[in-house]
Amino acid sequence: MRVDRFLSNLPRYNRQQVRLLLVEKRVRIDGKVVSDPHSDVLEFSRVEVDDEVLQSGKPARYFMLHKPPGCVSATRDPQHATVLDLLDEPHKDDLHIAGRLDFNTTGLMLITNDGTWSRRLTQPQTKLPKVYYVETEQDIDPSYALKFAEGIYFAFEDLTTQPAQLELLGPRSARLSIVEGRYHQVKRMFGFFNNKVLHLHRESIGELTLDHALKPGEYRALRTEEIHLF
Ligand code: URA
Repeated sequence: MRVDRFLSNLPRYNRQQVRLLLVEKRVRIDGKVVSDPHSDVLEFSRVEVDDEVLQSGKPARYFMLHKPPGCVSATRDPQHATVLDLLDEPHKDDLHIAGRLDFNTTGLMLITNDGTWSRRLTQPQTKLPKVYYVETEQDIDPSYALKFAEGIYFAFEDLTTQPAQLELLGPRSARLSIVEGRYHQVKRMFGFFNNKVLHLHRESIGELTLDHALKPGEYRALRTEEIHLF
């Protein structure tokens, strides 16, 4: 939100006063004096007028987790363990998942308290490639690649999937790159050929690859350069 709007939303200042505060250089965002009314106030920004803190600016947090099988990608579940149960962090209620995985799917999962960041990452327009390692019940015919590249019609949503790239690794294993995250998308794509997915593992999201040092169930904070990938 623009800083002038942020300040004039507070009951204590009218627009005229906000203009003056900015001109008189009495407003600071994250410690820096701002006079431009368009300056951005984010969820995590610290906002001060003179020596008074108007928004304290809590730290933004970002984690990558190696999701194990048998846990739910939700913040709460009445029956099963959730991915958040695997995190030993304070204020877990503030955290949410950026891009879910099915109960038995393993691999890269991102967890954050930054809604702007996770929206950027998950919204379909971003078209971030998500790469999955897949093992199937039946042999994977090379013709699947052409069909996946053309797109597969999903009647329930009445849409055709975006072009996806399939790389065969063995008779029943492959690497698939998709740019969407439709409900059970990979399983339904293989389901088109009546071929059941037995094992599904997300290796990467965009340029971010699951850290090989993380065993299933382990997690770590993202590094600054990793956060800035999105
Ligand atoms: N596609 C699926 O079918 N399941 C997942 O967990 C992720 C992608």
